[in-house]
Amino acid sequence: ADKWVAELEASVPELKDAVAQVDTVLETVHILDEYRHAIANELARITGLDSQFCFNLVENKFPKDASTGDFSIAVPRMKLPGVPAEIAKDLESKFTVNSTFASVKAAGVFLKFYVSSNYFRDRLLPRVLSQGEKYGHNSVGFGKVSIVEFSSPNIAKPFHVGHLRSTIVGNFIDNIQQANGWTTVTINYLGDWGKQYGLLAVGFNKYGDEAKLAADPIRHLFEVYVKINADATADATVHDEARAYFSKMEDGDKAALGLWRKFVDLSIVKYREIYGRVNVGFDIYSGESQYSATSPATKLVGAKMRELGLLKEDQGAQVIDLNEHKLGVAIIEKRDGGLMYLSRDVAAAIARQKEFKFDNMIYVVGSQQDFHFKQLFKILEMMGVPWAEKCQHVNFGMIKSKDGNMSTRKGTVVFLEDILDNVQESMLDVMKRNEAKYAQIQNPTHVADVIGITAVMVQDMSARRNKDYEFNWDRMLAFEGDTGPYLQYAHTRLCSIERKADFEVPATVDVSQLTEPVALTLLDVIAMYPDIVREVGSSLEPCTIVSYAFRLSHAVSNCIEALYVMNQPQEIASARLALYKAARITLGNALRSLGVIPLERM
Ligand code: ARG
Repeated sequence: ADKWVAELEASVPELKDAVAQVDTVLETVHILDEYRHAIANELARITGLDSQFCFNLVENKFPKDASTGDFSIAVPRMKLPGVPAEIAKDLESKFTVNSTFASVKAAGVFLKFYVSSNYFRDRLLPRVLSQGEKYGHNSVGFGKVSIVEFSSPNIAKPFHVGHLRSTIVGNFIDNIQQANGWTTVTINYLGDWGKQYGLLAVGFNKYGDEAKLAADPIRHLFEVYVKINADATADATVHDEARAYFSKMEDGDKAALGLWRKFVDLSIVKYREIYGRVNVGFDIYSGESQYSATSPATKLVGAKMRELGLLKEDQGAQVIDLNEHKLGVAIIEKRDGGLMYLSRDVAAAIARQKEFKFDNMIYVVGSQQDFHFKQLFKILEMMGVPWAEKCQHVNFGMIKSKDGNMSTRKGTVVFLEDILDNVQESMLDVMKRNEAKYAQIQNPTHVADVIGITAVMVQDMSARRNKDYEFNWDRMLAFEGDTGPYLQYAHTRLCSIERKADFEVPATVDVSQLTEPVALTLLDVIAMYPDIVREVGSSLEPCTIVSYAFRLSHAVSNCIEALYVMNQPQEIASARLALYKAARITLGNALRSLGVIPLERM
């Protein structure tokens, strides 16, 4: 026993070292936090208050000027006994200024802190340059698993605007969760089950063409589906056939399932290719079919619901009465034994928790399904699963158009591929207007593809998620104003400055060369990025990153017009190049978190 105690004792200093190291790493992640810590620790020393409490009171405003200070604290919020203005004066006199802070001033009930500019720049720039693509990231979600389910289109049906928004916003959420240290698992939960897939099979036996299916499964299946639906409208017996086919599928009939499996597999191959164009990938392609009536997950759920006495019979169907929660009556099992979209979602959630032990699960689906998810989460809660509150519906408004499909200048599109081809084409038109410039671009279709997609994404993420918006082709594709192309342009300008400079940023830069207000503002904006990432990690609002990217691009543009790198004394040129490189890294990171590929030339 003594030996064991001795070993333990001996390991403690090591452990302490390790913890200290981790802390150092964490603190260097975020320069503004370092200042907040310094302020909080000093205030805690003077007042005896808890330093974490003080930390949370520290504010920094942007844009800042002499009157706001770099950081401030509203003294009444410290809840110290006495007159706040007098306490502010007292704290001012006791606060130790050192290399970190140039001065501290009491102003009324506020305490304002001014940082030593050189020290600040000296700490910030090397950090951004060395952290590169990791700049702005933090470890809030360290060791935790987040499931992000998004896109989730339905096989053989149109890829509508809701799926487009889910794809854009979902991909963004995956990126931002990762930037906040989470381990993510992305799932595309395809609509691939239900009577309509019996109908599709019946249609394929009548109208299907293997060659067309192999060439473009998504389009061909849609054609077949449209035809057989028309037939079914004219002749109700087609529905009976479809129902019979689907019940063979539910019963696990090999031949019936074989044809359906082929539809799904070929569609997934095509989906992968198209998502690749927008730089979106999924860890898992799943679908409603995994939760058929005979699957282990649905059986388990059914048994549990019965055991808990949640199910009631209602005209032959099994339902859960949610009226007391103002959520109506949820049908779980139809009279014919068939399950519902909702029932499959309950089973899927339980299966996912079993498999991934997730710490949160995010469903990125339009607000038309708000009610569905309320029912789902309530049922999970009633089933007593302790993780029900870890499920979150991240919803969004609609893209407004006449028929629910996206209309383009050339008509209505129903496939993601068409949407992408359309923006690419329109972007090429815009680019060709400047003939001289167009001639210089090496791979114009690729560039047009990326800028076009950037335009769609930025438009989509410019306002708060739950707002509806209307597709505005001309506005979205413009190079001026707050558009996607403008952000790409700002990034390419920064890349071009680095290309044209005939030297690399040296290992040590004299940052005191950066004195102009435009340069200082740009530094301030760069320093804010980690705050933005952390904030968006909980709000999951992409518009915060979009407006940050514009703010940064405007600050960049103001600098580029005033501060040259070429033909300057070496000291000045080096400091400015370091600044531009840090700006390029930060803008690139912001764009990547949105799911946009930053271009180097355009
Ligand atoms: N496939 C569904 C649709 O197109 C969306 C699926 C959303 N996810 C879920 N777990 N219910 O409406």
